[in-house]
Amino acid sequence: MRVLVTGGAGYIGSHTVVQLIAAGHEVVIVDSFVNASPSVLPRLEDLAGTSIETHSFDVRDVDKTSALFAEGRFDAVIHFAGLKAVGESSEIPLEYYDNNLGTTFSLLRAMQRHEVGTLVFSSSATVYGETTTVPMHEDLPTSATNPYGWTKVMQEQILSDAARAGGPQIALLRYFNPVGAHVSGTIGEDPQGTPNNLMPFIAQVAVGRRARLQVFGDDYPTPDGTALRDYIHVEDLAAGHVAALEHLGAHPEIDVRAWNLGTGQGSSVLEMVRAFEAASGRPVPHDVAPRRRGDLAVCYADPTRAESELGWRAQHTIERMCADTWRWQAANPQGYNA
Ligand code: UFG
Repeated sequence: MRVLVTGGAGYIGSHTVVQLIAAGHEVVIVDSFVNASPSVLPRLEDLAGTSIETHSFDVRDVDKTSALFAEGRFDAVIHFAGLKAVGESSEIPLEYYDNNLGTTFSLLRAMQRHEVGTLVFSSSATVYGETTTVPMHEDLPTSATNPYGWTKVMQEQILSDAARAGGPQIALLRYFNPVGAHVSGTIGEDPQGTPNNLMPFIAQVAVGRRARLQVFGDDYPTPDGTALRDYIHVEDLAAGHVAALEHLGAHPEIDVRAWNLGTGQGSSVLEMVRAFEAASGRPVPHDVAPRRRGDLAVCYADPTRAESELGWRAQHTIERMCADTWRWQAANPQGYNA
């Protein structure tokens, strides 16, 4: 298939691009580079062993998007582009709604006009809101606790309505906690500014860019008191996109379907710290701080639907996630901007 990947220069997008090309698909990237570095592109081309057509603009630009589709002859779209920082989304909510919903409208219109029939959407376990039901399965009601989360809930709704009204077939992929990096250590997660997420923060402490990690809360009702999350290797996540794309192709009767991409296992913050220390051979000094607002105690996937329907299952262990993150971080202490 010839696949347009929005946000293809970002963390999850870039890993997915490599796997799509390895699986024999042709890829075109469109990325605004507001949250990705152009230096990822030559590295991606090296890994893929081919040049990759890349367009630098914001998909909210309806004219540019339409022109791209007019030329593109795409069979499918994978839509990663969007803003994703939970905390920031409460400070600049309109930016989040405008970006995340705007790109989706623009894409759906262009897909409709140019008869592109397949879309894989980058959703999140955040759509399960404040549920305390674990493992989390796809039929739980959706809701959110912050503007970022609402944009995902709303995009799922808009996409589902469009699909059911005869629009493209749509896969809603609900990611749990993506971590890790390509085994080469040449591409990985490179957050701008202070990382919001646990794994990049731990990695930056281990490499000496930051002094100490703050562990947000050690009084949760969990075995060691720190919160449990379902960390999934970004390479497993990327494989999930390829599986979903191929599944939709083989099942024209599907209009829209949600799949969790997680391992089904919860790991605590302190377990991640210890696993990273072991993988890197570096200490990760940390202090206990108060709970972070909005955090759940426990969040992990029921991944059985993806396993039975997509034939996909997460393969990589926590040890491997930490080893690959460390290889990337140690080789690129300042990320792509070294
Ligand atoms: N944590 C710390 N210290 C830090 C950063 C995080 O202790 O410096 C803790 C958090 O409190 C949480 C755990 O590490 O208990 C994981 O936090 P992350 O920020 O890495 O991930 P979240 O589970 O909060 O968020 C992730 C994605 C969101 C998504 C959410 C729900 O980043 O995009 O899962 O699926 F919305």
